[in-house]
Amino acid sequence: MGYQALYRVWRPKRFEDLIGQHHVTKTLQNAIVSQKLSHAYLFTGPRGTGKTTAAKIVAKAVNCKQSPTQEPCNECSNCLSITDASNPDVIEIDAASHRGIDNIRDLRDKVKYAPSQATSKVYIIDEVHMLSPEAFNALLKTLEEPPRHVIFILATTEPHKVPATIISRCQRFDFKRISNQAIVQRMEMILSKEEFVAEHAALSLIARAAEGGMRDALSILDQVISFSDSEITVDDVLSVTGTVSESILARTILAFLQQDVEEALQVVEEIHEHGKDPARYIEDLIFYLRDLLLFQTAPNLEEVQERSNEDEQFQLLAEKCPKQWIYSVIHLLNDSQQEMRWTTSKRIFVEVAFVKICHENNEHDLGANAEQIEQMQAKIEQLDSEIIRLQEQLAGKESQAEPVRKERTARQPRRGTRQSLTQVEHMLRSASKQQLSQLQKVWGEIMEMIRREKISAHAWLKDSQPVACTDDTFLLAFPYEMHSQMASKDQIRETVKQAVQAVYKKPMQYLTIVEDDWEKVKQSFIQNQREETSAETNEKEEEDPLISEAKRLFGEELIEFKNTGGINDETNG
Ligand SMILES: Nc1ncnc2c1ncn2[C@@H]1O[C@H](COP(=O)(O)OP(=O)(O)OP(=O)(O)O)[C@@H](O)[C@H]1O
Ligand SMILES: [Mg+2]
Ligand SMILES: [Zn+2]
Repeated sequence: MGYQALYRVWRPKRFEDLIGQHHVTKTLQNAIVSQKLSHAYLFTGPRGTGKTTAAKIVAKAVNCKQSPTQEPCNECSNCLSITDASNPDVIEIDAASHRGIDNIRDLRDKVKYAPSQATSKVYIIDEVHMLSPEAFNALLKTLEEPPRHVIFILATTEPHKVPATIISRCQRFDFKRISNQAIVQRMEMILSKEEFVAEHAALSLIARAAEGGMRDALSILDQVISFSDSEITVDDVLSVTGTVSESILARTILAFLQQDVEEALQVVEEIHEHGKDPARYIEDLIFYLRDLLLFQTAPNLEEVQERSNEDEQFQLLAEKCPKQWIYSVIHLLNDSQQEMRWTTSKRIFVEVAFVKICHENNEHDLGANAEQIEQMQAKIEQLDSEIIRLQEQLAGKESQAEPVRKERTARQPRRGTRQSLTQVEHMLRSASKQQLSQLQKVWGEIMEMIRREKISAHAWLKDSQPVACTDDTFLLAFPYEMHSQMASKDQIRETVKQAVQAVYKKPMQYLTIVEDDWEKVKQSFIQNQREETSAETNEKEEEDPLISEAKRLFGEELIEFKNTGGINDETNG
């Protein structure tokens, strides 16, 4: 016997094996067992979800020698002949190739005769929406006065093309798309019986490409098997389906978000080199973004949950991409997809779209709004606590009341939790310039190590730099709040700590801070130190303690041109 496609070999023979259609099979089984089947059924639903298969199982279950039974035995002569399509009483008609009136007339003539072997005649009319109007009329006549021993099962992917008069004579069942998880499970079962091994991620990818159709999943699996060596890998699947890997998609979106035009164009170049279709790539990007949106709005949806569990980059992006931003990127990609239809040089359109997304779709505009809101919130909190203090003062303790320190409040860092800033202030007490320069020397190497370990962690840390260091903790400053927050998440923290340990040869903790805050904390720290020291030294005319403190922390070069002026002004004023 020649090679048989997997989806044929693995056509379910029992209701039980028909996955994802429990709502249909349960009702059918009940009707069969209680012998209350209708004369006509309409099975609707997407391609390859089990309509024809279910119809054949019904035909077997009603005609099985064990009938009435929940499941066909698949062993008696009736079951066997129906399985191999040789039973004269179970008639499969493909309406796509038998559209005309003659075929249906023929059917009408023969319907009258009693079944020859089985107890019921079963007519399975596939793709019923393809019938011609005359054929539909003829069929309607038959459905209006069906002979007792006949069951019609009409199947279609496009029920809206079936006349309402026909639909109203049928009991309708809607077959659903099968969940990725169920598809993966069935493929795993089949592979183990066929003695193949596969990466789980490879199967997930197949399931996603099949979009809920089991037949498509098995066809892709077939191709991948003939393509791969001992184990089925993600790469095999990507090659067969022509899709782009998740990590490339994530990389693209991150580049958009960071307005990194160079990186975005680099990705286009790589896609091109690997011979992927740009239109398909854009399509995949849109799907990825749509999944991010879904995850943000309905994180418990099975479909997206699966994805986020398996994919760390996806999680990070879902946290980071503002909804509004995602909408507008989808719009821009969609536009370029339209334009691409009419051109042979698709790549150029992709590049133009990417540049546009990086430039026009300004993340930092959105960021700035969030920032303003945070600023206002911080301000309100601060005012609140001042009001409370003033009320307390008025309530009697007037004599001991501390004057409100105007200059201090003006320096309140605008973002970040108070707690983390306190930690920073605390660590600065034992920080030294020496330790900082030691770390700075190897920082490039540490970053390189992080890049090799986890590209996403590297992306978040890329624009940061160590700005202070003690013997067990260092401080990283980031240009943006979002980066600073991401870098303190556990997944990234672990990678960084390992890299530091490997290169720096000792375990280190780290804190993160936004550059603007850092400027403020630094100044206020130096200022405090000065106040303390001058109280102790009673203004000895040595080197300004403020300056020596600054030198200890940050080194000579830095304070000369940056801080001296500002700090002196404040001390004098
Ligand atoms: N629910 C399911 N459970 C298990 N396997 C399925 C299921 N649906 C489809 N398959 C697999 O896909 C193959 C094709 O299924 P079937 O012909 O029943 O789909 P269909 O819904 O009739 O599709 P079409 O609309 O294209 O006719 C089956 O042989 C089987 O291998
Ligand atoms: Mg079918
Ligand atoms: Zn049987």
